[in-house]
Amino acid sequence: MNGEKITLYVTGSIAAYKAVSLLRLCQKAGADVRVVMTEAATRFVTPQTFAALSGHSVLTDASAAHLETIAHVELAQWGTYHVVAPASADFIAKSAAGIADSVALTTYLAARGPKLVVPAMNDGMWDNPATRRNITQLRQDGQQVLDPATGLLAEGYAAKGRMAEPEVIMTALQQLQGQPQDWAGKHLLVTAGGTQEDLDPVRYLSNRSSGKMGYALANAASQRGAQVTLLSANVNLPTPTGVKVIPVRTAADLKDQLQQLFPTVDGLLMAAAVSDFRPVQVAEHKLKKTADGEEITLRFQQNPDLLKLVAAHKRPNQVVVGFAAETHDWRQNALHKLAAKQADYIVLNDVSNPAIGFNSDDNQVTIFGADGFQEQTPVETKDAIADHILTVINPKDH
Ligand code: PMT
Repeated sequence: MNGEKITLYVTGSIAAYKAVSLLRLCQKAGADVRVVMTEAATRFVTPQTFAALSGHSVLTDASAAHLETIAHVELAQWGTYHVVAPASADFIAKSAAGIADSVALTTYLAARGPKLVVPAMNDGMWDNPATRRNITQLRQDGQQVLDPATGLLAEGYAAKGRMAEPEVIMTALQQLQGQPQDWAGKHLLVTAGGTQEDLDPVRYLSNRSSGKMGYALANAASQRGAQVTLLSANVNLPTPTGVKVIPVRTAADLKDQLQQLFPTVDGLLMAAAVSDFRPVQVAEHKLKKTADGEEITLRFQQNPDLLKLVAAHKRPNQVVVGFAAETHDWRQNALHKLAAKQADYIVLNDVSNPAIGFNSDDNQVTIFGADGFQEQTPVETKDAIADHILTVINPKDH
C-alpha cells in the first residue's frame, strides 16, 4: 500500500475502536489515511483519536458545518481506496440506496475509486432480508464486501456479525490493490438482457434473461481497466461503476447499436438473449378477442443473427464472444454456434436448470474456443464466472 491514499469511513458500531488498529496497519504498509466519521461513530471513539494518529483533521458532520470548502468532495477525490470499517447496517442500507444525509455518506457517494465495506452488526441485523438485499446491491455495484466474522458479539453471545480483524481487512485491501488491470486501454462492448418484439401496442414477445450475466461481465471488465459500453436490453439492474449504458429494446435497436459500435471496439461479449423471431406484422391497435374460446394464429419472421452479422466483419485484433443458452444437446449446439457465428469463443449456458442460467445469481458455463480451447467452470457467482471469462479471453492473447 506504499504511497496509496486511503479514505477511512468509521460508522456507528462498538467495533469502531478496531478502526484505530486498521489505521495503524495501513500506515505501517506505507499508506496515508484520512478519516471521516458518522455522528454515531463519534460516540464510540473521538475524532481527536483519529486526528492525532492520522495527522489529518477528521471530517464529521460537526466539523463540516464550520468549513467553507466542499470538504466531502475534496476527501472523496483525495482517496485512491475507500474503506468503510466498521460499516453499520444503517450506513450499508443508506449507501446501497444512494442516500447522502451525512458528511460520511456524501463523501462515500462522491467517491469513485475501489470500495471495501467491512460490516459489523448484530447477527439478527446481518441475517435480516433487508440487509441481505443491501449487501447484494453493494456487491452488484462493484464494491467489495467482507463477510463478518463469527465470534463473541457485544451482546454477550457468539454469532456472525463481528467486524473482520484489521489484519484480514489489510489482506483484502492488498488484494483489491492487486486487481489486474489486464484490460486497461481496451474498449469492450457488452450486451445484456432480453430483447422485446412487439405484437401490438401493449404486448411483446421476450425471454427470461435478467441481464445479470451481462452486467457482471461489464462490471468485471470495468474493474479490470477496460472502457466498457453496455447495450442493455430491458434490464432492471444498477449501472456498474464506470460503465456507459445504452438502453435498447428490440433486436432492431440492438442491431443498430452493434453495427455502429462494433467497428470501434476491441471486443464484443454478446450475453444478451436476442429474439430469434419477431411478428410478421405488429398490430396497430390492441388485439381483441372476438369470441370465447377463440384461437388466434400469429406469424413470425426471423430476426437477423446479430452476432453472425457483426462477427463477419471482425478485425484480427478483435475478440468476439458469443453465449449459447441451451436446454439440450448442449455441447453439439454450442460447437455449431461457435462455427456458424464465427465467434472466437462460445460460452455455453445450461438454461434447463433454474439454479444456474436465467435470472439466477449463480451460473456454470463451458467455454469453447475456436482454437479448440474447452473448459467447464464450477458453479459460481456470475461475478466469478465473468472474471474467469475475462481471464480466458485475455487481450494479451489477441
Ligand atoms: O441474463 P441472465 O438472466 O443473467 O441469463 C444469462 C443468459 C443465460 C441469458 C446468458 O448467459 C446467455 O446464455 N445469453 C445468450 C442467450 C441467447 O440468446 O442464446 P442463443 O443460443 O439463442 O444465441 C447464441 C448467441 O447468438 C448469443 O450470443 C446471442 O446474443 C446471439 N444471437 C442470437 C440470436 C440472434 N438473432 N442474434 C444474435 O446475435
